[in-house]
Amino acid sequence: PRVVFSGIQPTGIPHLGNYLGALSNWVKLQKNAGPEDELIFSIVGWHALTLPQDPVALRAARSDMLSVLLAIGIDPNRSIVFHQDQNLHHTELCWILNCVTPLGKLRRMTTWKARLAASRNANDESEVDESLLNAGLFTYPVLQAADILAYRATHVPVGEDQRQHLELSRDIADIFNRTFNQGPPLFPLPECVITPSKRVLSLKDPTSKMSKSSPDIQSRILLTDTGAQIRAKIRGAVTDSIQGVTYDPVNRPGTSNLLTILAACTDREVLDVAKTYQHKGHGQLKTDVADAVEELFKHPRSEFEKIRGEASYLLKIAKDGAERAMTRSERTLLEVRSRIGLS
Ligand code: TYM
Repeated sequence: PRVVFSGIQPTGIPHLGNYLGALSNWVKLQKNAGPEDELIFSIVGWHALTLPQDPVALRAARSDMLSVLLAIGIDPNRSIVFHQDQNLHHTELCWILNCVTPLGKLRRMTTWKARLAASRNANDESEVDESLLNAGLFTYPVLQAADILAYRATHVPVGEDQRQHLELSRDIADIFNRTFNQGPPLFPLPECVITPSKRVLSLKDPTSKMSKSSPDIQSRILLTDTGAQIRAKIRGAVTDSIQGVTYDPVNRPGTSNLLTILAACTDREVLDVAKTYQHKGHGQLKTDVADAVEELFKHPRSEFEKIRGEASYLLKIAKDGAERAMTRSERTLLEVRSRIGLS
């Protein structure tokens, strides 16, 4: 049987990239799961702390994320849905894994390298302003490995940007297995499960991914955007000045991104979709993409509006989820403590 685990940071309402790259796959895996399969989805508040967060906004975002997961169809009777910060086994395991993780592997993470690059001294490139970097940014992927390994997960549905973190999780699992090899290997090596729309691009700068942290709000579509907002953002999407529509991600990233989005929203192959636009222009494509996204988000948006006000229901779901998660991870932690000599 499979153990599916994934997480999302509570840093605001998810965007189309989060949805097409990861969340829609969570729901699909839940739908197709066999009776023995387990599904565990976490709202990872500790990961969010690696960047400065306003406590009031974080509290609201944390609760909204739970509403979003329920609104898109994660079923708490079938899947475990919980707040990472309510299961201390994650931090315990994270510490233990920190102690077997080679520094060199963390230094090679592209997410870390991007942080380093961003904090280089403008006048002297060789100098990094370390006061801009917290230790959490560096050990972030170890906490992610702990999230996954606490449940001995076998499958992890994520977008392309998480692939390297997943490879590190496998490495850490393997190091632990080989170091503490009393009995059969403790951790399965978790597999990455990636959707066809694994990297949805920014609507304003199609050389970078759609991201929650871009200052330009027009660059992303939020799950809660209205039809009018969706249409305006798609209309303003950067494409190119080449006549007609073709799928060519290298030379036409903006146009290809719209085709990818349309294919994902309508559950078709991107090349099939591209064929139907051979004799059409960007205007038609944009209209159709906007319609498709609006249709896709219509139901989740109205569900979200209903659920988010149900404070006591949400509290109950969270409490329940945390208890079930802890019962699950306790089994792993008992075994881990015993193997390392701290039981
Ligand atoms: P986060 O919160 O940044 O993003 C949540 C999920 O959305 C995917 N994603 C995208 N997919 C396609 N196109 C995009 N433009 C795009 N932007 C985001 C991400 O790949 C991710 O799957 N480190 C993780 C959270 C995490 C986690 C875990 C994931 C913590 N522990 C354990 C899996 C397993 C993160 O920051 O995701």
